[in-house]
Amino acid sequence: MNIKLINLQRSVKANTLQSILNQGIQELTNMSCSASLDAQLLLAYTLGKTPTYLVAWPETVIAEADSNIFSALIASRKKGVPLAYLTGSKEFWSLDFKVTPDVLIPRPDTELLVETALELCTNKTEVRILDLGTGSGAISIALASELPSAEIIATDLSEKALIIAKENTARHQIKNIELIQSDWYSAIPKQRFDIIVSNPPYIRDDDPHLQTDIRYEPYSALVAEQKGLADIEKITSGVSDYLSKDGHLLIEHSYDQSEDVLTILRTKFSQAKTLKDYASNDRLSLAHQLL
Ligand SMILES: C[S@@+](CC[C@H](N)C(=O)[O-])C[C@H]1O[C@@H](n2cnc3c(N)ncnc32)[C@H](O)[C@@H]1O
Repeated sequence: MNIKLINLQRSVKANTLQSILNQGIQELTNMSCSASLDAQLLLAYTLGKTPTYLVAWPETVIAEADSNIFSALIASRKKGVPLAYLTGSKEFWSLDFKVTPDVLIPRPDTELLVETALELCTNKTEVRILDLGTGSGAISIALASELPSAEIIATDLSEKALIIAKENTARHQIKNIELIQSDWYSAIPKQRFDIIVSNPPYIRDDDPHLQTDIRYEPYSALVAEQKGLADIEKITSGVSDYLSKDGHLLIEHSYDQSEDVLTILRTKFSQAKTLKDYASNDRLSLAHQLL
């Protein structure tokens, strides 16, 4: 076969979806334990197709412009930028959320908090819920999608986060969430809630995980003073003015903070317990019966 023809075949081959995907996977192999999935999702995102399309049409030739976009995305992912920030979305509670670097990327672990709150609402018709530190709105919107007649207030200190939360409520056509900018309880009009939920910042400032990909997420959404417990203390200390007598406070925390969190909760509640997440790590503490 003549040399020109071989080179032509090579260059055509190099531009198929399969070959560019393989290059992407190879680029990410040393930095991501999900290199193959990351590359597939980034290529599908580049093309505006589903990952199944890549499997069905591996020999399709990719346009140069798309190839350049994909290469830039792979380069960012290689630097550690989380996949969700590159694609601008993250699934939580089977709902698709817009995410930007202004909000924490919702984590599957937090679905335990949603599940537990929903169990507490069983057989209740009119429920009032307060979500402190709503970020993308993930928790509130998941709850609202299951409880359309609930009255939900979702707060955040970050104006930028609230803009994203507002977009997500519109995306999911949620009408029963009021968004308020507030430093914990400070701007919330005095009223009583049946359930107060929070996934607050709880990482210690010397936690080595802050050097990993999570360094791209907002520091103010992740880190709290006093060994990660400062915000949990503030939320607990203000709870008596906002929780109804028979209400529940649900707080997500790190796997190794349950004892400290229970100690904090027991300053205000007669009942407090910790629940484990799907990986059997302590993840959520639940308090009841205000003192
Ligand atoms: C760990 S993120 C949780 C975001 C979202 N609820 C979730 O679970 O994906 C903590 C959130 O608390 C917010 N936050 C931090 N300090 C706050 C404060 N003083 N008052 C209200 N919200 C605060 C952050 O902006 C961030 O959105």
